[in-house]
Order: sequence, then structure tokens, then C-alpha cells
Amino acid sequence: MLNTPAFVVDTLALKRNAALLQEVAERAGVRMLLALKAFSMPAAAPYLYYSGTCASSVHEARLGVESFGGESHAFAAAFSEPDMRALMQLGIHHVTLNSFDQLARWRRIAAELGHTSTQVGLRINPEHSEGQVPIYDPCAPKSRLGIRRVAFEGQDLTGISGFHCHNLCEQNADCFVRTLAAIEAKFGDLLPQIQWFNFGGGHHITREDYDRELLIATLQDFRRRYPHITCYLEPGEAHVLKAGSFVCTVLDVVENDGPIVVLDGSAACHTPDVIEMPYTPRVFMDEAWSGEAEPRSAALRAGEPGERKVDVRLTGPSCLAGDVFGDYSFDRVPQIGDRLYFEDMALYTMVKTNTFNGIRLPDLVLRTAPNTFETVRTFGYDDFRSRL
Ligand SMILES: Cc1ncc(COP(=O)(O)O)c(C=O)c1O
Repeated sequence: MLNTPAFVVDTLALKRNAALLQEVAERAGVRMLLALKAFSMPAAAPYLYYSGTCASSVHEARLGVESFGGESHAFAAAFSEPDMRALMQLGIHHVTLNSFDQLARWRRIAAELGHTSTQVGLRINPEHSEGQVPIYDPCAPKSRLGIRRVAFEGQDLTGISGFHCHNLCEQNADCFVRTLAAIEAKFGDLLPQIQWFNFGGGHHITREDYDRELLIATLQDFRRRYPHITCYLEPGEAHVLKAGSFVCTVLDVVENDGPIVVLDGSAACHTPDVIEMPYTPRVFMDEAWSGEAEPRSAALRAGEPGERKVDVRLTGPSCLAGDVFGDYSFDRVPQIGDRLYFEDMALYTMVKTNTFNGIRLPDLVLRTAPNTFETVRTFGYDDFRSRL
């Protein structure tokens, strides 16, 4: 019996995603990285497909090198000088820098240490927005992410072997086609000088309606025109889409203009994107749940408010009034002791949890076969105390 709250990662679903990513990588002739920011559970690594990792900090870079293997890439809006030294000491394969000042610092430290093994790239800003939500749009006005073309004038690109452009968020291949056209329009004259191009993350490659053929054809065409360039994609979500559940138990049901269910899992502490993004996760109940990330057809899926017999608000145990997963409707009010399963909870969850209010972090569990669970990690008081 699983303890709750728990993140249950379904390795069967991971393998399905891995097969799709492998097919894209092989047919398009590109290298597929794993963006650790979205999902970085080392125990799940054997079920993923990646030729390396991309990190957003020294700690993620170290995790990539020590626990995931393959090529290690790193990018941050800015690295401190100790960060740069640490990345060099880790021996990461590629670093992407976000300004010419950062490049000057990297060059100085690398010269000091005699470090030459890391390939150095620059993140470019093609000034072409595909995102509707400004906080997820790297090309939004006043964005700090990526160097605009105007800033390249008069700069010395000696030693720059690649470019990086991350411009998408949960998007389809048509958005990539338009982004690539914008990149080529602005930076096309510089492409003959580089050896690698990292097209970032946000490609929702494993989603049912994703146009994988268009992505593959677009990358093949790019590679035909620039055969000297090695291409990378670095999705995070696509590796773990629809591959994890967040399992909670009902602790109480209070009444305030309708039933309010209080769970042992917290939106504020365990799924902060629900509040930050914000979005309302899908949820279901199923007494015969065998750990599958996608609910069986017999599962009782919650509806939108008004859709089923009774409207119910699902909330967490913390003091935050806004610790709310969302408003739903069910055929019956969930009772104390019932289990609820939030869907699609492998991505941007366990990497973002916090211990606000001292609330215990969820167990981390792998589902290796139907009804077969391996609890990889449990958390207790020491995890809370050690951060304070
Ligand atoms: C530079 C970079 N690479 C990769 C990713 C991963 O994106 P996703 O998880 O949406 O595929 C992100 C996400 O913010 C990013 O900023």
C-alpha cells in the first residue's frame, strides 16, 4: 500500500515517451537532451531516452554528470565566477552564455585555468514570439534571455562553436518552423561559422497531437542546408508527459457554500505550478488503480464545475488560503480516507516542491509494472530541518 502524498512515476509511460523521442532523434539526425529542470529523478534515468542533459545551474550540471551521464550542457541567464570555475572543474561539454560580458569572463577564467575542453556557445534571441503568456516567452519585450542581433555588431566570435535558442513552451512543430525561419532571417549569415545549434526545449514531441513528421522534416531540411551543424533539442516535459500521478488522501471535508475537500497533498508545496502558471490539473478516483499514469476508462474522472452531481473544491492542508488545486465536480463527494489521483504530475513538480509550513514532501515512487511499486525516497523532519 502506498503512503500518501506520493509522486508515482509510471515507467511504462516513460518508455513510451522514450521510444517516440528516440525515433525523432534518429530520423531527424539530432541529439536529444533531457532538461533536468523539468524532471531529474535519477532512479528514472534508465527508462528515459537522452544523449545527455542540460542544466540550469552548477548543481543540476553536477547531477547530470554524476547521475545521468552522456553529454552535459549548461545554460543560465548569468553564471557567477565561482559557478564558471565549478562548471569547468566538472568538465561539462557545452556551456551556453547569455551575454558578451559573460563570454569575456568565461574566456578570462578559462585562460587562467588552461581550460579548453568545454565548447562555448551563445544564446540568441530571435525576437520572434510564439508564446501567449509573457512569463513563458523568452522573446517578450524586455526579456533578459538571449542576445539580440544588434548586440553582435563589432563582437569577436573567436572560440564560439555554437548557438542556442529556446523559444517554445508546450508548443507544436509549427511554432518551431516559424521560430527557425526567424532565427535564419536574423542570424543566417553567422550559421556557416558554428558547429552546433541547440534548439532548446518546449517542443511537446510526445503529445498525441504533436506533428512529429513536421519536426523531423524541418530538422532534416535544416541539416541538408547546414550539414556542418550538429543539432540538439533539449525538451524537459516531452520526456515525462502523461507519465506521473500525484496521489493524495482526503483528510477532511469542510463546508462553505459547498463541500471543500482538504487533502494531505498541497498545491502550494507540492505542485506550485498549479498556482504559479496557473492551471487546474485533471483528477480522478479509482479503487482499482494499478499505478497507471493515464486513468482507465472505468476510473471516476472529475468534471468541470457543474458537469457532475456535486461541485467540490480540492485544497491542501497549509495555512495559505489559496492552497487550492481547483474547482471540480464529482458524482459523489470524496470522503475522508478516499484517494485522489492528479494526472500528468511528473513534470515540474518534484523539482519545485518546498516545505512551507513544515509540510512533509511527497514520497517518490516508481511504478515498474501494474501494481508493482518501488518507493525510491521518503522524506522526514531532517529534510525540513536541514534547509533552515
Ligand atoms: C533553456 C531551456 N531549455 C529547455 C527547457 C525545457 O523546456 P520544456 O520542459 O518545456 O520542454 C527550458 C524550459 O524553461 C529552458 O528554459
